[in-house]
Amino acid sequence: MDDFNWRVVDETLADYLLAHPDIRDRWLLEQTIYTGASRRAMFRQMPFQTAAAVLDIGSGFGALALDLACLPLDLQIRGIDFDDGKIAVARELAVAIRNKGGYHSDSIPKFDEGDVYAMPYTNESFDVVIARFVLQHLTDATRAIEEMRRVLRPGGYVILIDIDENMTVTYPESSAFVDLHGAFIRLQQMRGGDRVIGRKLSTFLQRANFAQVTASAQVLSQHAFIQPNDSAHLFAVRRFLSVRDDLVREGIMSEQDFDLCLTAYANEENTWEFHSSAQVVALGRKPS
Ligand SMILES: C[S@@+](CC[C@H](N)C(=O)[O-])C[C@H]1O[C@@H](n2cnc3c(N)ncnc32)[C@H](O)[C@@H]1O
Repeated sequence: MDDFNWRVVDETLADYLLAHPDIRDRWLLEQTIYTGASRRAMFRQMPFQTAAAVLDIGSGFGALALDLACLPLDLQIRGIDFDDGKIAVARELAVAIRNKGGYHSDSIPKFDEGDVYAMPYTNESFDVVIARFVLQHLTDATRAIEEMRRVLRPGGYVILIDIDENMTVTYPESSAFVDLHGAFIRLQQMRGGDRVIGRKLSTFLQRANFAQVTASAQVLSQHAFIQPNDSAHLFAVRRFLSVRDDLVREGIMSEQDFDLCLTAYANEENTWEFHSSAQVVALGRKPS
């Protein structure tokens, strides 16, 4: 698993962003680029056998599928997402990476348009099914997991990766950040999602009758000097800005409060800060 070509993935994603600065859901492409290291760090925990059929549900711009295709395991990879725009981008990226010699075999990841609640695949057709940062957006995670179980072969693995915002800790706390972050969590909740779903993943798997269920939190912590022009800080500012209209429409924040908070957050003084956040990885096996 050590022989990989993720540099090609990184370059291809960065080139795409440069060429398409106004892409819809730009934040997700940016997040895809800058979470590369933590995404890949999980692979060692994952039970991939050579030539396994792997399904990445809610594949977005294809980050996970493209990374996996670079491993020297000849995996047969499919991604599925109900957003046709993201599927089109993922297909384009997959071809660009192949053309630069990024993969180990001739087979490139395939991407299908479809809903995670009713996937266009026959029963028991995958060895591994993965969902990264997807269940937090769903109104019925249990139903999605049942559908994941349906397409898994007996003995196959399900891997769920998601955030738990109650494990996010900052000190000293910026009140502007606390207000914006709280509003952001509330918005997702009002849409039926759940940003504290991380702790629940293994229980979902247990209840869905998966065996050998495990879970672990990946914690990223740092004590760092934060400057307003840090790329992570700028990313957070743009991410909040991307939901401004939704927050106002849903009555979670007034335009004035949002603008005041965002201006305060964007212009915060340089400061030393402790920040910690976590994502949970839960794994289960479909009994043979
Ligand atoms: C935060 S993104 C995560 C993308 C990708 N898994 C990653 O790790 O970068 C969530 C993705 O789930 C997709 N999604 C949400 N609900 C879905 C559904 N019911 N069926 C298919 N895709 C869905 C969205 O379109 C979006 O691309």
